Amino acid sequence: MHRILELPFAEWSPSITADESRRVAGELELGKIVYLPQLRFKIAETERRFLDTRWLSGTHKSLSYEPQRAAATEGVRGAQGAPQDLRALAAMIARFQKEALALVHALFPQYAPHLRVAPTSLRPGNVEQHKLSWRKDDTLLHVDAFPSRPNRGERILRIFTNVHPAGAAGKGARVWKVGDLFEDTAKEFLPRIKRPIPGSAALLRTLGVTKSRRSHYDHIMLRMHDQMKRDPAYQSRPTHLTFGFPPGSTWICFSDQAAHAALSGQFMMEQTLHLPLDRQYFPERAPLKVLERLRRRALA
Ligand SMILES: [Fe+2]
Repeated sequence: MHRILELPFAEWSPSITADESRRVAGELELGKIVYLPQLRFKIAETERRFLDTRWLSGTHKSLSYEPQRAAATEGVRGAQGAPQDLRALAAMIARFQKEALALVHALFPQYAPHLRVAPTSLRPGNVEQHKLSWRKDDTLLHVDAFPSRPNRGERILRIFTNVHPAGAAGKGARVWKVGDLFEDTAKEFLPRIKRPIPGSAALLRTLGVTKSRRSHYDHIMLRMHDQMKRDPAYQSRPTHLTFGFPPGSTWICFSDQAAHAALSGQFMMEQTLHLPLDRQYFPERAPLKVLERLRRRALA
């Protein structure tokens, strides 16, 4: 269990001492998963109906709370339904956003003023049912890195909660595979990654492939993401941990650092937050800093 740190809290705003906070952040910032088995997101009886794929429109895989971008569907992107239903759905997802933020503020007060809130999502579908190309297949171990969204080292912090309505014990777990800690994974894959072609970052920006400049760091992270997914021997290594997060549990990780794969499960809510790496408790543990140490050069 050295890749997972369990905390006993059952409240979204737990009290924690400054020392404990620093200790937990230290583990999280190494790429471990902070697991709160007793922290349940409460869904009202009248909201149970939202745990259903019928609210997804078209080819969408998740319902995403984005009040600015999705005004036509009452603030929920990827949704379909009557306006009054969508309003209630938006309120439920917004409530999770509030609780997820309260949790991060309580556990890691040093992050609080610097977090940038990204969309909050409800994923009602089955992980196993989205069979995609290897690059998009998140049932394969990977670190998060997105071709169109360079972040130049800014951190991706994610809070997940399993809202599967299963009553029976042992049912409805969200099963993840968790790989080695980031530094070990980086040491393994970095030698296989060549430098970007000179001028490619500017070209990708001009062509609109990327929304901002792709740094050398972004290039390495994308290649690492791809190399991990394309390596069958790495994927099937028996030392990786398989772990089921049961219904009613919550977990947090830096998904640009913790090697993860979602093997199975249904009904999850997720909040993404971004954090400048110099606001970490231990900035030197950030993937950018680890990669710079290993490559012995600046990559920002
Ligand atoms: Fe991921």
